[in-house]
Amino acid sequence: MGSRKPVIAIDGPAGAGKTTVARRLAERLGYTLVETGTMYRAVAFGLVRDRVPQRDGPELRKYLEPLDVSLAGGRVYLNGEDVTGAIRTHEIAEATSRATTLAAVREKVTPLQRRAAAGGGVVLEGRDTGTVVCPDAQVKFYLTASLGTRAGRRHAELAARGVRASLDRVREDVRARDVQDETRELAPLKRAPDAIELDTSDLTVDEVVERMLTAIATRCSTRS
Ligand code: DC
Repeated sequence: MGSRKPVIAIDGPAGAGKTTVARRLAERLGYTLVETGTMYRAVAFGLVRDRVPQRDGPELRKYLEPLDVSLAGGRVYLNGEDVTGAIRTHEIAEATSRATTLAAVREKVTPLQRRAAAGGGVVLEGRDTGTVVCPDAQVKFYLTASLGTRAGRRHAELAARGVRASLDRVREDVRARDVQDETRELAPLKRAPDAIELDTSDLTVDEVVERMLTAIATRCSTRS
């Protein structure tokens, strides 16, 4: 495998536990975490705030061209502005799901994600990291969980942040995002053929992370 540290790709639907697990895994490995959805959220935030029409065309491409999205120290910056807090709203989640169906947006963001992974020693977390962003990632995981489990987790996450929403509403949001993410034409959410699938419904975060560490050790030792 040479001296470059591996790239670990983690994909799966909303609420499968990717973010928590990816963060913990990156800590355990001493790797950099790249939450690819955060980069899309930052772009969507810019589109909403600057009232840019969310459809492919010259206006959108002109807006995107000079845009810079960067991750540093757990924060996300849009043209140098810290937008970490502003991107975690229901409105931006919806706008992001729409924006990620646009070719211009994916063409802008995918190379930034590849660049972030180029040096290795990275945990990439998202929807298409093992299929589109880094198809040559050394280890790929596809995390899943039942709809009920995923909605329950999202609901608890929102409550912890002081956002009130009924469980039914959250379940419908999660279901709607699944449909949008799985059926979009570009980079739809799907498991890479060589990804290791893990159903996290009945596993603790520690159990998931331990299984992943074992799989990484096995795959990387057999490929070196
Ligand atoms: O993981 P998240 O909730 O921050 O992702 C926000 C949105 O971006 C969600 O609708 C899925 C989409 N996304 C994507 O299309 N491709 C990625 N690599 C990551 C996220």
